[in-house]
Amino acid sequence: MNKVWGGRFKKPTNPWVEKFTHSLNYDQRLSKMDILGSIAHVQTLTQAKVISRLDEKKIIRGLKKIQKLIQENKFPDKNRYEDIHSAIEGKLVSLIGKIGKQLHTGRSRNDQVATDFYLFLKLAIHNIMDLLLKMIAELANRASKERETIMPGYTHLQRAMPVTLGHYLASYAFMLGRDVERLKDLYARADRLPLGVGALAGTNFPLDRAREAVRLGFSSIIENSLDAVSDRDVFIEFLSSLSLVQMHLSRMSEDLILWNSTEFNFIQLDDAFATGSSLMPQKKNPDVPELVRGKSGRVYGNLLGLLTVMKGLPLSYNRDLQEDKEFIFDSYDTVSMSLEVMIRFFKTLRFNRSKMQEAVESDRGILATDVADLLVQSRVPFREAHEIVGKMIQYCLIYDKRIQDLSASEVQKFTTSITFEKFKKLNLRTSIHQKKSIGGTAPSNVDRQIQQLTLFIQKTRKWVNQIKIGTKYGATSI
Ligand code: ARG
Repeated sequence: MNKVWGGRFKKPTNPWVEKFTHSLNYDQRLSKMDILGSIAHVQTLTQAKVISRLDEKKIIRGLKKIQKLIQENKFPDKNRYEDIHSAIEGKLVSLIGKIGKQLHTGRSRNDQVATDFYLFLKLAIHNIMDLLLKMIAELANRASKERETIMPGYTHLQRAMPVTLGHYLASYAFMLGRDVERLKDLYARADRLPLGVGALAGTNFPLDRAREAVRLGFSSIIENSLDAVSDRDVFIEFLSSLSLVQMHLSRMSEDLILWNSTEFNFIQLDDAFATGSSLMPQKKNPDVPELVRGKSGRVYGNLLGLLTVMKGLPLSYNRDLQEDKEFIFDSYDTVSMSLEVMIRFFKTLRFNRSKMQEAVESDRGILATDVADLLVQSRVPFREAHEIVGKMIQYCLIYDKRIQDLSASEVQKFTTSITFEKFKKLNLRTSIHQKKSIGGTAPSNVDRQIQQLTLFIQKTRKWVNQIKIGTKYGATSI
């Protein structure tokens, strides 16, 4: 294996050590970013008069050639180098000769790998935000179609009060909206460049790091060299934000899985988004939301994994840090795939409105709180009203009646505080339309929520499209 550090060693590396320390099979995913970083570094070295203009041109041409080889899947050769950084540098020297040996001046793989990883992170944040906005738009769109669809709202998975399906769907959109905000906040911290600090202490060359940051699309630099090469807190934040995204998707999936059971029968899955059983011919299973729920395990695991890698690392760089990458790649892949599939799953999902309606209508006590509120309007203190309605519910359960169907004389048995006229007006429709206080389930509130979500999407979409990412050299797909 070719190395970038052989000089001081008398013996060749043991093959097990080579195998054990090797990272090229996964860090080659950073190859485009590595080329980007190297081009910017050569430009910075030239500006500092460390490299001649002519050599700069040759090195950049060589790097671009390697970039092309990467695109054509002709590079890297996995067995010849330990990581992507040495592979690219080695290839450069084999392409352009001795001139290429200047590339690593004033740079270490420590600031180099951090730079590659920050470039990856910025693109990853951008891409997840983009998918989240699409998911939110889909939820808002379905919510507006279901602004008046009545379904049971649950606490403890027991029917509690009627809610609108639009309200339900919008609640998930708001949760994902906070995930978007979190990623936006995080972006500001991911937008500082570590490059130009060397191995840990800075360099002896007058590298214009601020200018280098601009070259690579960063808005500023990481100020302290020890900090720049050794922390991964921003990546932990990313894993934590992704864990929350997956947690939200997982809860949504759980609802969908329940709703898809014959017992609920609230939704119908498109055949293209369901799977069958190898043994039971009749089965149509919700494997997509089940896997989204199941994949939370690895996403949470990655967060804990990186936290554990970082715990107790002395400053500054340690090889432990090489273990950071797979957590990030895996969580990024898992969450983006979950979002991609859920967006499509939702588009084809059908709601069984009549089944939802039936479930609310058949319930004997779902309007109990509304009856208690009626009593309060007639000046009965709430705690007393609660007690009275509790007795009414006991009666309803014994005589198998819905509370809203009680006759005038039946109501009279429990209270004389409300007129039957008022009581009679209470039904499922009035119940949801009454929930007008801001944040409640009334269709007018759902409209307001959709308006807010639409505004949020517009505003954030603008921001997402604008953020400076290192796309100049074509590193858009990760
Ligand atoms: N492959 C290494 C990593 O991912 C690159 C840095 C190696 N630096 C070193 N001092 N050995 O972190």
